[in-house]
Amino acid sequence: MKEFKIEGGHKLTGTIKISGAKNAALALIPAALLTNKKVKIYNAPNISDIENIKEILRHLNVKMKEEKEYLEIDASNLINDAVPEEISKKLRASYYFMAALLGREKKVVMHFPGGCNIGKRPIDQTLKGFVGLGAKINEINDCYTITADKLIGSKIYLDIPSVGATINTLIASVLAEGTTIIENVAKEPEIVNVAQLLNNMGAKIKGAGTSRIEIEGVKELHEGEVTVIPDRIEAGTYIIAGALVGENLKIENIIPKHIEALIEKLKEMEIKTVLNENSIIVSANPNMKPTNITTKVYPGFPTDLQQPIVALLSVCKGCSMVEETIYENRFNNVEYLNKLGANIKINNRKLIIEGTDGLYGTEVEATDLRAGACLLLASLYAEGTTTIKNADYILRGYENITQKLKNVGAKIELEEYNKVGI
Ligand code: EPU
Repeated sequence: MKEFKIEGGHKLTGTIKISGAKNAALALIPAALLTNKKVKIYNAPNISDIENIKEILRHLNVKMKEEKEYLEIDASNLINDAVPEEISKKLRASYYFMAALLGREKKVVMHFPGGCNIGKRPIDQTLKGFVGLGAKINEINDCYTITADKLIGSKIYLDIPSVGATINTLIASVLAEGTTIIENVAKEPEIVNVAQLLNNMGAKIKGAGTSRIEIEGVKELHEGEVTVIPDRIEAGTYIIAGALVGENLKIENIIPKHIEALIEKLKEMEIKTVLNENSIIVSANPNMKPTNITTKVYPGFPTDLQQPIVALLSVCKGCSMVEETIYENRFNNVEYLNKLGANIKINNRKLIIEGTDGLYGTEVEATDLRAGACLLLASLYAEGTTTIKNADYILRGYENITQKLKNVGAKIELEEYNKVGI
């Protein structure tokens, strides 16, 4: 296990470059299995979730060559074996292999996916998409056997605009016969990135990024390549670091449109920001104003930045409120933030945050990826040293985070420890 040791209170200044988006890369790699030809994915982040995906690829006998600039996926010798549960449950994105294998082989056996413990996270909408395409599903003890004689395009209406269900239905429909129309889909930029790769491979997809996607099925896909979009959640996390302890902290390689909801909130709080075409410069403002935030699907305020921004609101004088509408249980950071000195109360899906002047370093624990990011942000601000146990969670989603923060002046170390309880 790993832990971060962070000495807080140091100003961050300089430049942090944003890596490729975790949640795009984790869908692009499985999508590449739809062809026998080689697929190149540029700008994939080097994070532990990609290591988990590699285990699934090894199990399916799919080759992944790692060059400096790109990953090359070669699924020409794919073996459609059931992926053992202990491998697939390591991450949520394992369910994109359900779609890819169903689309290509018309059969897949896969367990319920894993992922951070932030709510129930059912997969009913993904299954609805598969059934809409003509698949049959048999579930025993969380193990799904999904089969189809053939997949046939149809109209599928998602009950909620789920990111996972949108990407899964999209991937599964590309090789279906006829036209598929998916209504009420999610509009997240990661979905557009996946559609871009599939179209580069010969798919015929229109409307990704809107609430209606139309897919005209094709017989086969060919080689293709794509560049992973910059990670908007990584960018948002460092922008919040800038709002906490930044002095002209520059975050570069961003797509401002993708983080508009965050930037607008920071402006409302009177945080100093200078926005350029693909970068932003952020400085802390000790007189920043409190605000209220409600998480929404894209282009609303992203749930994945809800926990990180609570670190900022916890030291902002006055009362702020945060409402989490996407997940039932995404407040596991609060207990530890309060241990650092914050004053936050949980009321169902809302947080009431009374800003405090100071946070004080102590020992805390990351319970999931973004909870860990929140605690890391808080400890950059806190007086004294904070130890964050279970730092492995944070490494799932942030490439080279220790070095990126050190380069701009943070005092942070990543160390090994043996888990003996906290
Ligand atoms: N939902 C259902 N039924 C479904 C699918 C989803 O009820 O069939 C519910 C979920 O329980 C949840 C909500 O809908 O309450 C949103 O789920 P969604 O399917 O949109 O999310 P996801 O595909 O499971 C991805 C990201 C998450 C991110 C969400 C929302 C990946 C691997 N994960 O999850 O990322 O929070 O979209 O933007 O892409 C993270 O990076 O920290 C993370 C959790």
